[in-house]
Amino acid sequence: MLRRGVKEAFYRVAGPVMKVNGLLYRGLRAPRNGDLKVQLGPGQRNYMPGWINVDANKFTGKCDVWADLRNPLPFRTGTVSAMYSHHVIEHLPDLLAHFRDAYRCLRPGGVYRVGGPNGDVAIRKFVDQDESWFIDYPDARSSIGGKFENFIFCRGEHLTILTYSYLEEIMKSVGFVSIRRCAPVKETNYPHLFNDCLAKEWETDDAFPHTLLIEAEKPAI
Ligand SMILES: C[S@@+](CC[C@H](N)C(=O)[O-])C[C@H]1O[C@@H](n2cnc3c(N)ncnc32)[C@H](O)[C@@H]1O
Repeated sequence: MLRRGVKEAFYRVAGPVMKVNGLLYRGLRAPRNGDLKVQLGPGQRNYMPGWINVDANKFTGKCDVWADLRNPLPFRTGTVSAMYSHHVIEHLPDLLAHFRDAYRCLRPGGVYRVGGPNGDVAIRKFVDQDESWFIDYPDARSSIGGKFENFIFCRGEHLTILTYSYLEEIMKSVGFVSIRRCAPVKETNYPHLFNDCLAKEWETDDAFPHTLLIEAEKPAI
């Protein structure tokens, strides 16, 4: 994991270039048909062939579009049938803007599958003092409070805590419908869209998943 200062310097320097790159892609190259599958933030291991993978990191990972997800997404309005992000949105400073723009990009009937650190279960495990649930990434902490902080904020990389009701509130407010929590793990209401994604997901704890996963639709006309 990059040190926070290095990351901030990277975004300061590369941010304007990524902004232009995203705008150029959206204006000149983004496909116009309404059947795109888009993954936001594939990282180092989760590149999915057949999808358009968008990331700021094209140095240690692989992506098709080099863009900063803090900016409007590099896709035309109503062109995406499946959008997927896994452990990415907690890095973004403005979730409302993100979901509003994801909604813009989806075609009517399009679906967003979104996952990130599970704040609901983390809070429960903190209250239950269940140290065994927490993981030692990125830091190993010995106290339950330290483990909780480590999980939620990830050395300052994560900017918010994700709970189901909070995400549902935001998603509803921008127009999403059929908002559903996916549980048990490896579950989707749209296997024809997201089977590729399930193969990449690492969650094994059905009862107390570390990842909160939600699927929601843009209403069909
Ligand atoms: C924790 S990794 C998750 C990788 C993968 N999705 C997974 O589940 O293993 C977060 C990913 O989001 C990307 N990311 C975070 N903030 C971003 C931003 N503002 N713009 C573009 N990509 C960003 C990072 O580069 C990284 O690849």
